[in-house]
Amino acid sequence: MDLGIAGRRAIVCGGSKGLGRACALALAREGALVTLAARNVETLQRTAAAIEVETGTKVGFVSADVTTPQGRAATIAACPAPDILITNPGVRQTPADFRTLSHEDWRGWMEAHCFSALELIRAVVPGMAERRFGRIVNISVSFIKFPQVGFAHSHSARLALAGAVASIVREVIRYNVTINSVCPGLFDTDALQTNLHAHAARGNTTYEAIVEDRIRNCPAGRFADPQECGDLVAFLCSAQTGFMTGQNIVNDGGVYQGLF
Ligand SMILES: NC(=O)c1ccc[n+]([C@@H]2O[C@H](COP(=O)([O-])OP(=O)(O)OC[C@H]3O[C@@H](n4cnc5c(N)ncnc54)[C@H](OP(=O)(O)O)[C@@H]3O)[C@@H](O)[C@H]2O)c1
Repeated sequence: MDLGIAGRRAIVCGGSKGLGRACALALAREGALVTLAARNVETLQRTAAAIEVETGTKVGFVSADVTTPQGRAATIAACPAPDILITNPGVRQTPADFRTLSHEDWRGWMEAHCFSALELIRAVVPGMAERRFGRIVNISVSFIKFPQVGFAHSHSARLALAGAVASIVREVIRYNVTINSVCPGLFDTDALQTNLHAHAARGNTTYEAIVEDRIRNCPAGRFADPQECGDLVAFLCSAQTGFMTGQNIVNDGGVYQGLF
């Protein structure tokens, strides 16, 4: 299936590794002109070069912390008129006892997991509407559908983003601008491995035991390959999905048991 996005300009936040990298690769395979945004320049260079070699499509990058106003401005400056925006805070979800979090801590999570995406959306939507094409996908987490103990700070910020988007989408879809979220479960990335190692240390158990436990509780019986997220995101950015917006799509191997 041709997704109809060859030549479209795309910003992929957190695009140098993990889920963001997989989104960038999937978009570049479709001929989109991708700009990666992340902080570490060497990783950005390596990833951009690898995607170029694999796809034959030119890949740009910008070293930017997308959780800061300066980083977001640099990101937009590197790709001023994007047709596609993938927001991805990159920031790892670490559990915390809500009683110990200060107002500043909560504000930080809101900045990283809600405001950073909203500010980027605000910056790109007018141009997308004018050009009559825009596809925005937010990388969220499956747990927004079944919140976990210890993640009030992260879930609240991601749900605030989902709520804001649910309102915005109804203003912009008539201009062929859609905004959807993917809500991944367990994808085999560096962040997942770091999280599971930390979890094992906190619970005084081994990494292997934690992995076994997670896989036992996943109907698919495995962790997912990041490309299984990247390819879904690319589809949501396709010409064919102009009627689909405001959705929070769970991609978690069957862990979430709700119908809706
Ligand atoms: N992997 C999973 O199973 C899973 C499941 C559900 C949700 N998620 C969510 O998906 C997101 C990505 O996770 P991942 O597993 O792909 O992580 P990852 O493999 O560690 O990749 C994170 C990417 O984001 C970049 N990044 C981190 N902080 C950034 C910042 N402030 N500004 C710009 N770029 C930044 C990193 O590069 P630099 O460090 O160089 O900036 C890297 O390119 C996270 O929010 C995570 O909570 C992941």
